Parts: sequence; C-alpha cells; structure tokens
Amino acid sequence: MIREYENYSLLSHNTFGIDIKAAHFIEYDSVEELQQIIHKGTVKEPYIHIGGGSNLLFTKDYEGLVLHSCIKEITKIEETEDTVTLRVGSGIVWDDFVACCVENEWYGAENLSNIPGEVGASAVQNVGAYGVEAKDIIKEVELLSVKGEKAVFSASDCQFSYRHSIFKKPEMKGWFVTRISFILNKKPVYKLEYGAIREELKKYPEVTLAAVRKAIFAIRSAKLPDPAVLGNAGSFFMNPMVDRNKFEELKEIYPQMPFYEVDSHTIKIPAAWMIEQCGWKGKALGPVAMYEKQALVLVNRGGASGEDVISLSNAVRASVREKFGVDINPEVKFVS
Ligand code: EPU
Repeated sequence: MIREYENYSLLSHNTFGIDIKAAHFIEYDSVEELQQIIHKGTVKEPYIHIGGGSNLLFTKDYEGLVLHSCIKEITKIEETEDTVTLRVGSGIVWDDFVACCVENEWYGAENLSNIPGEVGASAVQNVGAYGVEAKDIIKEVELLSVKGEKAVFSASDCQFSYRHSIFKKPEMKGWFVTRISFILNKKPVYKLEYGAIREELKKYPEVTLAAVRKAIFAIRSAKLPDPAVLGNAGSFFMNPMVDRNKFEELKEIYPQMPFYEVDSHTIKIPAAWMIEQCGWKGKALGPVAMYEKQALVLVNRGGASGEDVISLSNAVRASVREKFGVDINPEVKFVS
C-alpha cells in the first residue's frame, strides 16, 4: 500500500533523533507501487530517498518529498551445493537480513550484525565492519529511475570502495535501489582476524555463526551507543587516507599511531584516534558530544538541532586539521 503524508515528522526516520519535518512523505511496499508513484509524476525536485536514516543529518525541515521503501521480501533465487543467492527488498531492516542468514546457516553477513539501517543503503554506502564490507556479499543491485527505467548493476558495475559506490555519485541521483541480490556461503567461512573478535569468541565453547553474531553484538554494544537511547549515526567521520610520505611524517611524531595499509601508497588512519588525541573524546559542545567510549561517534545528548551537529563537526575537523594536517570528512550525509 502507498502511504502518503504532509508535514510529516521524521523523528522516527533519523537515528540522531532530530525532530524535523518533511513537507511531503511517501512510503511504498513494492517495486510496482514505486512505479505508480513515479508514473503519477509525484517525484519532482526537491526529493530525497531515505533508508533507515542512520547515516543522515537533516539540518532543517525538508521542503520537498521524502521517499521511503518498505519493500520487505527475502526470496531465495538460486542455490548450488556451495552457495545460496537471496533477493532482498531495500526496505528490510539490515540486521533482520543478517539474522535470517545466521538462522539458516548461510555464511558471509554475520560480521555485519547489529549495524543500524536498511538493506537499500548497504549498497549505496558499502557498509562495513570487522573486516567485511557489503560488497563482499553483493551480487547484483536492482534499481528504478525517476523516469521509470529499470536497471540491474552487477557488483563490478557498482564501483565499490571504502564507504562508497557509484550510487553516491551525482549522476545516479535519480536512481533508487529496489532490491539487492546477496550471495552467501553454505559452508563455513569465517573472517575473525579483525580487532577483538577472536578474543570475544573465547567466551563461547565453539565458533559458530550464532556465536560470531553474539560476539559482534557484544563488541559493538560495548563501544557504540544505542540510537534508541542516545541519538547518533554510528561513525560520524570516515577514516582518512593519507599517502606514504604523510604517513611517515606522522609516524615519526606519533609512533603509537594506529594505521591500516590500504595499498603500497595509501594508509588509512583511524579518525577516532586523531579525535581522541585532540581531546574531543567525551567532550560536549552544547547538546552534542563526541561519545566517551568511541570518539568517532557524535551523539545527541538531547534536543540537538542540525546546526548543533554541524558546529561540533566543524570544530572537530578544525582541531584534527590543525594538529595532524589531515582533513577528516563526515560519513554522514547532510540534507538541507
Ligand atoms: N580508537 C581510539 N579512540 C577511540 C576509538 C578508537 O583511539 O575512541 C582507535 C582504536 O584503538 C583502534 C582504531 O581507533 O586502533 C580503530 O577503532 P575501531 O576498531 O573502533 O574502528 P573505527 O575505525 O573507529 C570502523 C568503522 C565502524 C566499524 C568499525 C569496526 C568507519 C568510519 N567506521 O570504525 O563503522 O564498526 O571500524 O570495523 O570506517 C559506522 O560506519 O557507523 C561504524 C560504526
């Protein structure tokens, strides 16, 4: 069913918990319904298509149309001896999809447990955690355009990289993700090298999919605030990439600096570490703060506006630039 509202509160559609309104809001349950909405000519600028609102910052009331998918199917479309391919609607809650994979003993999504958001955004954002990114399990992405055209992008068409895909590019603005096909393994394949996973798994008698999922839940909830309790959008900034010369220069001054080698020229430095070094961890500016247990997470302590978030974001970026000569950029998308 198509559900349409005027002057609609987006409070339950943004994990920052910012109380702003959309002039017009439409939710739909199927690709056919989205086609109907498009054919009626309702989708005109300004418009934005949102997912779970876990990576968005509305800086003020939105004067246009906000679209939201409630396409909730999960269909098995192919099965071989080793793999299963699922077609998943963009409106499925991401963690419900992960739970479904774990319950059915399909391997590949478990490290991405407990990430807020919905399936559609996983392809746009190439969500990632604990050594796995959505691109590792995405086979194809189905899209519908504002002109009513359909398209299917294979994973190699999607130009996936760290928190990035072709769907973030301006030329893809008029295209909406409707369904994603994921390919999962039926035989055990675990990725346990990242961070604290192995350590956490010692608490379980054996390594199973359910144990990995529980371990990820435990690791995440120890460091990341629950948006239902404290408004936030997960990591607020992306981890910056620097070239080797810059890295060597910084390493000389800060020998304890953590880093990940991306390739022989490029090094990724955890923004959380730099923010903490600048003294921002746990520090508030008005109603917003950098979270006391994970400096990369900007939290709404209550009643914050989009402008409050932008002020803190700018102050943190300026400190990091001044101390390290490195620019950090928000992962969160600002919408005005
Ligand atoms: N660190 C600090 N201070 C802190 C937090 C972390 O110095 O307050 C240091 C840690 O010691 C560690 C490094 O920073 O050496 C990395 O920390 P962590 O493993 O927590 O990961 P991250 O780089 O801060 C990224 C993702 C997270 C994801 C984790 C785990 C980005 C922008 N963020 O964070 O994703 O859960 O890795 O894989 O890449 C998200 O995107 O919303 C998100 C939570």
